[in-house]
Amino acid sequence: MDNLSLIVVIGQNYEIGKDNGLLWHLPNDLKFFKKVTLNKTLIMGRKTFESLPSLLPNRKHIIITSSNYQAEGALVVHTIKEALDYVNNHSDEECFIIGGMSIYQQLLLYAKYLYITKVEATTKADAYFPRFSETEFDISILGENEDNNIKYKFYKYIKK
Ligand SMILES: NC(=O)c1ccc[n+]([C@@H]2O[C@H](COP(=O)([O-])OP(=O)(O)OC[C@H]3O[C@@H](n4cnc5c(N)ncnc54)[C@H](OP(=O)(O)O)[C@@H]3O)[C@@H](O)[C@H]2O)c1
Repeated sequence: MDNLSLIVVIGQNYEIGKDNGLLWHLPNDLKFFKKVTLNKTLIMGRKTFESLPSLLPNRKHIIITSSNYQAEGALVVHTIKEALDYVNNHSDEECFIIGGMSIYQQLLLYAKYLYITKVEATTKADAYFPRFSETEFDISILGENEDNNIKYKFYKYIKK
């Protein structure tokens, strides 16, 4: 889907999280996340939503849950299909899959653009990004940065 993107930070083993939190504190990556997603629509699993400090300003939030979970200021959907229908019916909006693991697993194949921050480190984790076929994408590096001696690069993948 041309209006569906995904954004993620991964370690060298595709690790993305532990104990429902992120693995590294990377202020410059958070700035990148903000710049890329500002004024866009964010699609996330209920657990990732609960890991956020609050609603992220100036972004529409769509939460996927199987329960009757409610969150003020967010749109709640109950199936992956319902989330995809939203994306299809709002072709003027750029929608971003922002995690977590279960949502990346289920929605990765639909995304046209992947913004992947690759951290040049590895650490203990309990959540991982799915392995996928890189040959299906054109890949470029948008830049690189470093926080507290942890280096990382910003990759952009565009589905061919
Ligand atoms: N590195 C990164 O860029 C990044 C980004 C985001 C998250 N993360 C990490 O990822 C981890 C969380 O991943 P996770 O997989 O545990 O949680 P998640 O994907 O954020 O949320 C899982 C929840 O989403 C709902 N859900 C998932 N698939 C569904 C479906 N098909 N239909 C209905 N509801 C569905 C369920 O909610 P209910 O239980 O309410 O039914 C499920 O428990 C955390 O460690 C987080 O820090 C990392």
